[in-house]
Amino acid sequence: MTQSDAQHEQHPRSIKSFVLRQGHMTPAQQRAIDENWPRFGLDFQHAPVDLNAAFGREAPKILEIGFGMGTATAEIAKRLPEKDFLAIDVHGPGVGNLCKLMAEQDIANIRVMRHDAVEVVETMLPDACLSGIHIFFPDPWHKKRHHKRRLIQAPFVAKLLPKLKSGGYIHLATDWEEYAVQMLEVLSSFPELQNTAEAYAPTPAYRPETKFEARGKRLGHGVWDLVFEKR
Ligand SMILES: C[S@@+](CC[C@H](N)C(=O)[O-])C[C@H]1O[C@@H](n2cnc3c(N)ncnc32)[C@H](O)[C@@H]1O
Repeated sequence: MTQSDAQHEQHPRSIKSFVLRQGHMTPAQQRAIDENWPRFGLDFQHAPVDLNAAFGREAPKILEIGFGMGTATAEIAKRLPEKDFLAIDVHGPGVGNLCKLMAEQDIANIRVMRHDAVEVVETMLPDACLSGIHIFFPDPWHKKRHHKRRLIQAPFVAKLLPKLKSGGYIHLATDWEEYAVQMLEVLSSFPELQNTAEAYAPTPAYRPETKFEARGKRLGHGVWDLVFEKR
């Protein structure tokens, strides 16, 4: 058996939720990474991470999957200074941009990872290490034949939930109505999760408009937030 066969057997239902876009890293973004990675970055490892050690303090930890350009992430970290944010994306320019925002605005409560968040959840996060999970405007994968690439499906949520402490929350948002319906169905199917609203939730005060959301609104899309708590 090759190594890749073995990995496939270990994670038979992992989702491939992204296609790596090249994207152009500006010199300022590259510099922000070069100068700050030891402080702001966290490298992937094949073993559980000690998040308190990574942030240098004991504080509630929030995971964000797919932060894009990181503008909302930086804003939320400033609004909630008592919490720590593990922000993961695969897109290089976004990683550079978030490091740049952190350096410019002196933000210390974010650690940035450039890696597939599915693999991070599967291999690096200890159980019950998180107080919250943010997944804002995950790629909607509009075409039916691509729906299998959507992050919010029961098998991945089943992997995420053990990472949440009891009393922790999962907050999703989307501008694609049919994906919102899927999100509501998937989260509602887990007995350990309780919806904080009747169906869709009012946008919590800590979440500013994201870049992808603004684009959706320009196209006339609606916005749906979902906030569920773990019992
Ligand atoms: C549609 S964008 C939304 C970005 C941002 N949350 C916003 O609202 O502007 C989705 C982001 O998720 C990232 N992404 C998708 N799958 C991912 C994965 N498995 N691990 C890490 N990032 C992922 C993509 O690279 C992209 O930046």
